[in-house]
Amino acid sequence: MKILFICLGNICRSPLAEEVFRQKVKSTGRVADFPTIDSAGMIDYHEGELPDHRMRQQAAARGYALTHHSRPMTAEDFRTFDCIVAMDADNLRRLREKCPEPELMNKVVLLSDYLTAHPDFTSIPDPYYGTLADFDLVIDLCEDACAHLLTQLS
Ligand code: 4NP
Repeated sequence: MKILFICLGNICRSPLAEEVFRQKVKSTGRVADFPTIDSAGMIDYHEGELPDHRMRQQAAARGYALTHHSRPMTAEDFRTFDCIVAMDADNLRRLREKCPEPELMNKVVLLSDYLTAHPDFTSIPDPYYGTLADFDLVIDLCEDACAHLLTQLS
């Protein structure tokens, strides 16, 4: 299965989710099941950039080295990937606008639907204009949801 994590800028949430998911795939011995784990953004403002320095700093403190370079999602990604994981309702709206065929939206899921320990959250909130605590929350939520998402994907 090829899996793509989506957020708005592809410099905070989705590169973090990508790396959290990759580590969980490795630690559960399922590397062969997931040959491609990637992330992309719905806007191209940060194309080519490493993740936001706050996200890299907070992620590094939790053992995640973020090396992804931001790229905008393409219509072709809807065909290439088997599972497309969005962070919030704004991502879903932009994905629907970009989707080349309505049926391809069946590949899209919302990461917060896989939360187990954080039942009050209906999205992975955008931390870009927030504090370091908001970046830490993104890590908490992604660890929770990615663990459950991985068990659901066979
Ligand atoms: P992300 O956060 O979607 O989690 O990467 C953001 C990054 C940049 C912007 C917004 C959100 N921005 O407006 O530039």
